[in-house]
Amino acid sequence: MLFKNACIENSSVLRDIRVEDGKFAKIAENIEANPGEEVIDLGGKLLLPPFIESHVHLDTCLTAGDPVWNMSGTLFEGIECWSKRKDKLSKADVKERVNRAVRMQAANGVQFVRTHVDVTDPKLTAMEALIELREELKDFMEIQIVAFPQEGILSYPNGKQLMIDAVNMGADVVGAIPHFEFTREYSVESLNFAIELAAKNDKLVDVHCDEIDDEASRGLETVATRALELELFDKVTASHTTAMHSYNNAYVNRLMRLLKMSKINFVSNPLVNTHLQGRVDTYPKRRGVTRVKELTAEGINVSFGHDDIFDPWYPLGNGNMRDVVFMGLHVTQMMGYDDIMNSYNFITNNAARTLYLGDRYGIAEGRPASFVVMDAKNYYDALNYNSPVLMSYKNGKKIAEATPAVRTALF
Ligand code: FE2
Repeated sequence: MLFKNACIENSSVLRDIRVEDGKFAKIAENIEANPGEEVIDLGGKLLLPPFIESHVHLDTCLTAGDPVWNMSGTLFEGIECWSKRKDKLSKADVKERVNRAVRMQAANGVQFVRTHVDVTDPKLTAMEALIELREELKDFMEIQIVAFPQEGILSYPNGKQLMIDAVNMGADVVGAIPHFEFTREYSVESLNFAIELAAKNDKLVDVHCDEIDDEASRGLETVATRALELELFDKVTASHTTAMHSYNNAYVNRLMRLLKMSKINFVSNPLVNTHLQGRVDTYPKRRGVTRVKELTAEGINVSFGHDDIFDPWYPLGNGNMRDVVFMGLHVTQMMGYDDIMNSYNFITNNAARTLYLGDRYGIAEGRPASFVVMDAKNYYDALNYNSPVLMSYKNGKKIAEATPAVRTALF
């Protein structure tokens, strides 16, 4: 199968791509079609590696308003709404909602998802459901599962054992939530426990780290130090890090050296943290998004996640990563021409590093033929005009397509 005239990752030169046995067999200019070979002319349209959702909570998705709406929009009312919804949680319920959400994501070009799954549940219901779904959906969506202790590891009854159980059940990644632990001592101990659990079981680490507007919340320095000392480096990710928005600059200057040495990844969630943070401020209100621009300038890997899709903590979301990038660029003031043009990296190549996909990902000969084609000539236009993903191929097989809507002014 031959795809002609692709604009690969905003390249000014159009190239052709031959796909054989589910892999990129050849990528070059002007490839001659073999006799009888199927040819698809992309006519200069944008071809990107598939989109990656690097931070989402699929176990809570699609539950907004059920049984009650979060009227204040705060994190805390969200927790109250969820505790009412949690009573109805069953494996069938989780699987039905996640199946719908994954199809919404796939239709928007997502092929890889890292989902955090709440394990502060003595029955580990959602974890069991997600582990089954990871297998059932693997031909269409690669799902990475984080054992996520929503209510803490030290601060929740039997929290350590639930984390161990989740890892034994097959979680891919170990989580933590240091800013939610009762004390600073618990916070540090929970991180040491989680990172050592990951190291012992050869798992990745992804910590909900300092998701609070408290400038004294400093889980991040512990995460980075342990990643460095245990030589886990880029197997470790710090998600949210919204407190970093409020840290004083002298501290950040010192911290940046450690962050670079540690080689850890960052995930920022601009939709949800713009919505949830700054809620205890009057005016001025903090934006509550971590320092993406400064981290990126230092060469530190940052990706963007949706975090919540239509649930008690975020009332919108349709699985489309475009809105995440759009908000992220605004709120971090990364609106220069190159910033906008290259911003697809936040939901593709950067996210692939976070998910540790290695050479299973990317547009290169010999790698799996997984890619998306957008109805645009480059990513600047794709973002600006909210272009659909015309086709999404995974391992050489088409798994989603779209027909662009035609909007015409009648004058
Ligand atoms: Fe999260």
